[in-house]
Amino acid sequence: MESISIGLLGLGTVGAGVVKIIENHQDKLAHQIGCPVKVKKALVQDLEKDRGLAIEDGILTLDPEDVLADPEIDIVVEVMGGIEATKEHLLEALKNKKHVVTANKDLMAVHGPELLKAASANECDLFYEASVAGGIPILRGLVDGLASDRITKMMGIVNGTTNFILTKMTKEGRTFDDVLKEAQDLGFAEADPTADVGGLDAARKMAIMSTLGFSMNVDLSDVKVKGITDVTAEDIEYAGQFGYTMKLIGYAHRDGEKVEVSVEPALLPNEHPLSSVNDEYNAVYVYGEAVGETMFYGPGAGSLPTATAVVSDMVCTMKNMRLGVTGKSAVNPQFEKKLKEREEISSQYFLRLHVQDEIGVLAKLTSIFSNHGVSFEKILQNPLNGAGYSEIVLVTHKASLDHYEDILMELKDYHAIHSIESSYRVEGGEKG
Ligand code: NAP
Ligand code: HSE
Repeated sequence: MESISIGLLGLGTVGAGVVKIIENHQDKLAHQIGCPVKVKKALVQDLEKDRGLAIEDGILTLDPEDVLADPEIDIVVEVMGGIEATKEHLLEALKNKKHVVTANKDLMAVHGPELLKAASANECDLFYEASVAGGIPILRGLVDGLASDRITKMMGIVNGTTNFILTKMTKEGRTFDDVLKEAQDLGFAEADPTADVGGLDAARKMAIMSTLGFSMNVDLSDVKVKGITDVTAEDIEYAGQFGYTMKLIGYAHRDGEKVEVSVEPALLPNEHPLSSVNDEYNAVYVYGEAVGETMFYGPGAGSLPTATAVVSDMVCTMKNMRLGVTGKSAVNPQFEKKLKEREEISSQYFLRLHVQDEIGVLAKLTSIFSNHGVSFEKILQNPLNGAGYSEIVLVTHKASLDHYEDILMELKDYHAIHSIESSYRVEGGEKG
């Protein structure tokens, strides 16, 4: 091969980083793959936009066919975002025997299996390392680095926006709305942060990681999702008093053949390695039966960090092209998907209640929990001055989800409970 030609779909934040890395690391890339790499075309929406890059005439185009149908383009790099129209572009690229690298978790979480099947059928590579945790090589870590092991647990802080917000709320005692505004002003949070703060962005990443880590097709709809919009400064304060840190945790756990995957704000013991992952950083804690605890840490977004993952996928594809083994990397899942039932999901729980300050309330509360075989690990009661209520905050010992939900129902029916203010899982107390 004299050179390898890349076609970019999109030249925004990540695309610009890809162009810079190809230019600035050309010597290293050429050494690894044996020939130079060049960007031949880039699809954009606005030809006049200032991209802060020196772009040769004729590279930018408004016509997707200039990328998808150009016979000289070997690899299509999709960094434009979007789901349905983008899927059609990638299916066309694969049909035209072009390898694909994408950073698009929205797309891969929904249409990953179909695209991977099309890639195999066309003997093309399709890599998507940048779609989860930006610059952290977590997908390759799961698929190659831990290929020999059986993974039982993955816990991820895989959304930088929410980690930034929770970190500021924890360290500065500020409210969710206040910190979200700062995150938007700083350019961390998107103009529409719904997918981030609502947990959907993290859920997409957990669906992708669980599919690879557990070798079964975990769909986005299999992931139970709750965001951080209801997390209050009071919850974080009480969590701190009990020795916990609040994080938006992507939790994927395997028990035998069955798995559960969720994204929700959860409390972690302060000494858990994920508790010290702060600001916009991402990290994924992985427990393997043989290796034990591992943790992958780094920037989960940003132009150059994300572009390193994209360009590394390109290098992998180019090496495969040279060896003549493209289209062989996607391995069909080994296992049929089996999700845990409610009674098979267990956790400790943090609960904050407002109760009437009257005789027998604590005894009744204890009996509701003990009737379901659940006991308290920690409990405290504070008067709420002037309200006629007390605040009770407790952490249970491990309980199954069905028992815990039954308890919540009974608490709602008990006249002395004024409100259930908040409830969170407490995770990370056990390793595997
Ligand atoms: P971005 O800055 O908005 O860039 C998108 C690019 O695609 C722009 O160049 C835009 O053209 C072009 N584009 C969008 N829709 C188009 C259309 N219909 N036709 C033609 N061109 C179109 O986005 P980004 O932040 O680079 O993100 C790109 C992808 O990477 C997304 O899937 C995102 O989820 C993923 N990702 C991003 C990050 C990150 O840190 N930003 C991290 C991990 C993964 P114009 O420039 O002309 O508007
Ligand atoms: N909005 C995402 C985040 C960007 O905050 O982590 C990376 O996927």
